[in-house]
Amino acid sequence: MKIKDTQYRSVKLHPDNDKIIQIVDQRWLPHKFIIADLKSVKDVEMAIKDMWVRGAPLIGATAAWGMYLATFEIPAQCSLQFYFEDIYHRLLKTRPTAVNLKWALDQMMDAVLDNDSIAETQWYAKTRAQFICDGDVEINKKIGEFGLKIIEEIAAKKNNKPVNILTHCNAGWLATVDLGTATSPLYLAHDKGIKIHVWVDETRPRNQGANITAWELLQHEVPHTLIVDNAGGHLMQNGFVDVVIVGTDRTSVRGDVCNKIGTYLKALAAYDNRIPFYVAAPSSSIDFKMRDAFSEIMIEQRNAAEVKYVQGLHNNEIKSVLIAPSETPAINYAFDITPAKYVTGLITERGICQPNEEDILNLFPQKK
Ligand code: MRU
Repeated sequence: MKIKDTQYRSVKLHPDNDKIIQIVDQRWLPHKFIIADLKSVKDVEMAIKDMWVRGAPLIGATAAWGMYLATFEIPAQCSLQFYFEDIYHRLLKTRPTAVNLKWALDQMMDAVLDNDSIAETQWYAKTRAQFICDGDVEINKKIGEFGLKIIEEIAAKKNNKPVNILTHCNAGWLATVDLGTATSPLYLAHDKGIKIHVWVDETRPRNQGANITAWELLQHEVPHTLIVDNAGGHLMQNGFVDVVIVGTDRTSVRGDVCNKIGTYLKALAAYDNRIPFYVAAPSSSIDFKMRDAFSEIMIEQRNAAEVKYVQGLHNNEIKSVLIAPSETPAINYAFDITPAKYVTGLITERGICQPNEEDILNLFPQKK
C-alpha cells in the first residue's frame, strides 16, 4: 500500500535488523502514522492483545513473526518442543476469535521443530513467516480479482452511476499484510476506472471504520462517506446501497460468518432489502474443522472501557473521553455470527462460492 509514494506493509521484518519486526501502530490512526518496532515475543503478545495490530490475517502474520522472534530467546538446555509449545499458547491466547492466529501458529510450529541447529531453526522460522506474509498478499490479490467481477456486473447495470458498496469495520490493508480482503476488490475497481462509492460504518466501539477504513480509502482516493453504525438499514431501504462486502474472523465450514460486532445486523438489513451480502473470506479465515459456529466460536469480550470511552483528536492531542455515566455498567462483545442463510457468497482466493459445506469443500478439496 502506498502512502505519499512510499510502499508499506502492515507488518514486516526491519530492513536493516533481522531481529526486529516493524508494524504500523494502528492505535493512533488516522491522526498519527507511527511505525513501531517489536523486539521480543512479549512485544508481539502486547501488540496483538492491545490492538496495535488487528484484523484476522494481520494477527496471524504478526504472531508468525512472534514465533520467529522466539527463536532468539531460547533458554539454554531446554526442551525445544516444550519451549515452542509454551510460546504457541502464549501467542494463541492474545485474541481468541480469529482462526488465522492458530492457522499461522500451526505452520510456524512445523518450521521451528526438528531442525539440526538453532541457526537452522531461525532460518526456517524466518522463511516461513515471510512465506505466510507473501501468501497473504497473493490471496488478497485473488480475492480482489474475483470480487471485482461482482462490482463490474453491478456497474454494468448502473448507467455510469457509482456502485455503492457498504463495508463494516476494517477488512483493509491494515487488517492484512497488504491490500485487504473486503477492500481488495474496491481498490481494483477504483484503479480500473469503475465508479464506486463506499459507505463506511464507523464500527463502535473501537471505530475501526472511522479511524482506519476511512483513512485507507482516503489514501487511495476512493470516494467514501462515513456513517454511524445504525444508518445502514435506512440507506438500504432507500436504494443507496448496491452491495455489502465485509471481512471475516472465522467462517465455519458450513458458511456461518463470525465478524466484527454489528455485521449480523447489516446482513439482516441487506437480506430484508434484497441487497447482495458478500464476505471476503481467505481460506486462512475458514475453520474447516468447525461445523457449529454458534456453540464453538469463542466470542471475544473486551474491556467495557472501550464502550464507555471514545478516543479522538482535540487541540492536536489524542484524547479519550467518557461518554456515559462512569457508574453505568457496559459490556463489550467484539464479534457476532451471521448465519450462512444471509450470506450471498464467500469471495475466496479460489473463487466465489455459496456459504455451505459442499461448495466450500469443492473449492478446497484438500480440506475434506
Ligand atoms: O477486532 P478487530 O479490529 O481485529 O476486528 C477486525 C474484523 O472484524 C475484520 O472485519 C476481520 O478481521 C476481517 S479482516 C480482513
